[in-house]
Amino acid sequence: MSQFKRSLITAALPYANGPVHIGHLAGVYLPADIYARYKRLKGDEILFVCGSDEHGVPVTIRAKKEGISVQEAVDKYHALIRDSFEGFGISFDVYSRTSAPIHHKTASDFFQKMDEKGDFLIQSSEQYFDPEAGQFLADRYIQGTCPKCGFENAYGDQCESCGTTLSPAELLMPRSMLSGSAPVMKETKHWYLPLDRYEAWLREWILEGHKEWKPNVYGQCKSWIEQGLQPRAVTRDLDWGVPVPSANAEGKVLYVWFDAPIGYISATREWAETKGTGWEKWWKDPETRLLHFIGKDNIVFHCIIFPVMLKAHGDFILPDNVPANEFLNLEGQKISTSRNWAVWLHEYLNDMPGRQDALRYALAASAPETKDNDFTWKEFQARYNNELADIAGNFVNRALVLTQKYFDGKVPARGPFTETDQELIAVLEAAPGLVSENLENFRLRQALAEMMQVARAGNKYLAETEPWKLYKTDPERVGTILNLGLQASALLALLMEPFLPFSAEKLRQMLPPFHTQWPQNKFEFLEAESKIGTPEILFAKISDEEIQVQMDRLEQTKSQNVIETPPAIPAIKADVAFPDFEKMDIRVATILEAESVPKTKKLLKLLLDTGVDRRTVVSGIAEFHSPENIVGQQVLLLANLAPREIKGIMSQGMILMAKNPAGELAFASPANWVAPGSSVA
Ligand code: 2FM
Ligand code: ZN
Repeated sequence: MSQFKRSLITAALPYANGPVHIGHLAGVYLPADIYARYKRLKGDEILFVCGSDEHGVPVTIRAKKEGISVQEAVDKYHALIRDSFEGFGISFDVYSRTSAPIHHKTASDFFQKMDEKGDFLIQSSEQYFDPEAGQFLADRYIQGTCPKCGFENAYGDQCESCGTTLSPAELLMPRSMLSGSAPVMKETKHWYLPLDRYEAWLREWILEGHKEWKPNVYGQCKSWIEQGLQPRAVTRDLDWGVPVPSANAEGKVLYVWFDAPIGYISATREWAETKGTGWEKWWKDPETRLLHFIGKDNIVFHCIIFPVMLKAHGDFILPDNVPANEFLNLEGQKISTSRNWAVWLHEYLNDMPGRQDALRYALAASAPETKDNDFTWKEFQARYNNELADIAGNFVNRALVLTQKYFDGKVPARGPFTETDQELIAVLEAAPGLVSENLENFRLRQALAEMMQVARAGNKYLAETEPWKLYKTDPERVGTILNLGLQASALLALLMEPFLPFSAEKLRQMLPPFHTQWPQNKFEFLEAESKIGTPEILFAKISDEEIQVQMDRLEQTKSQNVIETPPAIPAIKADVAFPDFEKMDIRVATILEAESVPKTKKLLKLLLDTGVDRRTVVSGIAEFHSPENIVGQQVLLLANLAPREIKGIMSQGMILMAKNPAGELAFASPANWVAPGSSVA
């Protein structure tokens, strides 16, 4: 017997700083929805909660970019995300948001209780401050040059060019994104959650007590705990978020990762208020099983930080399981919001109306459960057409159409069973248990495969029994076959519901009414003589043209990315000793004459006045400078470079040019006119 009476299912609150994409759906919302729908069918008491995560710095940056207020930005994306989920049939009992007053109150009370109990450390540290804007700067609001690759627009927390994780102090030439000015270090005070104090407890609770967690989740927790945990700041100097409810905390808000998981509690409270019922049993009764569906990037927050918060606070239950998934890639590349490398859910709904289950199927069938997985449009089409349409759709269609044709649309009565019938019945009887067992253990792919076994067995059964050949000679036998075929279709409608709710409903409409409980090992859903509906195609095939539209969209993104990605700046070369540098004689010179070198594209022959002599230099600048425009130009010349012959011309020295990462050349010359021959040191 399970120790639990009910399940509270949470799905990670998506950031309201942009739309949601297939990676989110595959990793978090679809698995959570499949599980929740299955539990409801089983008649278990569950609550499925989610909402938008509307705080944090990225939403403020998004608002700035779009030239709207932060509230306007989160309103916009909250609505878009909520509607996308609804469009895909994600069956939340409540979809709340963290800018809602009930969340501010819940998060604030949570913090306050911990603060009063002395659960936090309060410490001062030096952080970057923008003197012009009069604000402390979040890591994302500081840009500078990456110390690793030289990219000039790296953020204070990460370089998007080389992917290195950074801290703001590591950036070279930091500048504030608010005012552009150079930030200064200034002391500030923050509240810290002393994770280190909970290390022993975490070891016991997770490493000993939750060995059943998925290996990817357990492994990540183990590695975090074994590396040693440090106190984590849970407040920020920012003007967007839940204000820190403490004296002397003006201008401070709760860190987004502190308030976001409390959003699950707020969402539950919001739901309870609208239903006029209590919320507390969902969070305080040890007979409630708390389950967090998340992506792998959220593991530390849900398995370590939030549980420590819950434990420290003391009033709440802890998660019983955190079935985190890995990531989904798209056509072999990491999904990237900034590079627009994604299939956005709202666009899909728009482009492919009525095709929600096609995506639900493809994503559930190759869900990134144990490792990252790849989504390709070709595989999406193939799976849908070859599996859903050709097997499941074909099977139920034949059962329905033949019933229409031979039995006037009424479920025929059954006669005695043959061995072939018994084989099908064995599959039908085993299927609910197999799907169930896999779902209970968060193996959604396998659960889906077990559901499809029913369709496969049904399809094979009709192919083997060939009722269309028997009707004239043995209508009673055909009755038995079609009765079983229809019972199998009804079973399929039930088993399909968690995965493909739209198609399950459509199939239900084609069958006589029957119950909506998770099937026991019986296959008697439909009564003989009950009337079926009008048979329709359950899974209309996806055409090559539909797929091409999506592929073209990605191709277009690809070509835009090629232009937009800035080339990396090369790292600084190895040190040279000063005496070596001194060996170089760099002088200011003036170009007196310039002409192209015949039969070359890049070379110009220049006559220079070096102040000491007049000399010829061959320079590879023709792609960027035409001879007629550069006469009179002052340049820097490496005057003692050993002469060498280039295209038959003796070149005496080399002009120094500034070369950007794209390879374009500009003259490096004195800012003011100086006499030729002046040295550079
Ligand atoms: O990674 C994310 O998208 C976060 N917004 C998830 C928050 S989950 C929870 F804590 F609310
Ligand atoms: Zn870098």
